[in-house]
Amino acid sequence: MGYIKSAALEETGYVVLDPYDQSKDPKEWLDIEYNDWKSSGDTRFAPLASAFGEIECNGFWNHKPPRTDKDGVWIDSQVAKAPNLVRRAQEPGANVGRCRVIELQPTPYGDCLYNLHQDDNNRLNPDGTGWVVRGFFNLTDDKDSFFVLRDNRTDPEGEVRIALPAGAQLIIDTQRLWHAATHLGSDPRYCLITSWTSGPELDAYIEKYNGVPHAESVHVDQAVLDHGYAEQARKDAARAAYYAAKGQQAKIAMSEA
Ligand SMILES: [Fe+2]
Repeated sequence: MGYIKSAALEETGYVVLDPYDQSKDPKEWLDIEYNDWKSSGDTRFAPLASAFGEIECNGFWNHKPPRTDKDGVWIDSQVAKAPNLVRRAQEPGANVGRCRVIELQPTPYGDCLYNLHQDDNNRLNPDGTGWVVRGFFNLTDDKDSFFVLRDNRTDPEGEVRIALPAGAQLIIDTQRLWHAATHLGSDPRYCLITSWTSGPELDAYIEKYNGVPHAESVHVDQAVLDHGYAEQARKDAARAAYYAAKGQQAKIAMSEA
């Protein structure tokens, strides 16, 4: 039967929407409660919707009964502190699974490449229903930072680097594309991440905000790129050696972010 997917995401696995005027909203991400959920890179997360409305970030499939990343329960205390973020997550009218703000500490390009991962949003997702994709709304004005998307984790061919100023809005099939953020500067980056179920509601939302399946890739000097490739290879080798010493095969971490 197959999953219901967005035609807009078919070509590249992502769309960039019109930017949002972030400047008119309060900085709600500074008011909500975070926990130290481990993801790719140095992160904390503040959930707005979780499996049962608790302030925790575990995949819905790790709860009882296990389920896919749909039907998230809004967390009253967080919703009260972040009404604008909740409004934006709900605007498409698509089913929301997990919804949370990520706080990411500065992450150079090489670390970002090492952090590249695919999400597991569709674990336990019933065939014939909507495929879960994710919205990324950049909250802080990270002008020099960018999201890295690849088809292949260790092959830079076709890499796309999407700029992350305040108000940048992306929707990404994060189970299809390898992804992570390069975050430069000294302050943490904050981004609202929402799991949405594909379907006519999400399609209409993408159309309303003129989603395009291409972005001008942020320019990065070749020397920085080359250094990043070497860093990724060095860290991958170090991880493989670590697991080899323990008699295990190195695994690429499946992140929840
Ligand atoms: Fe992710």
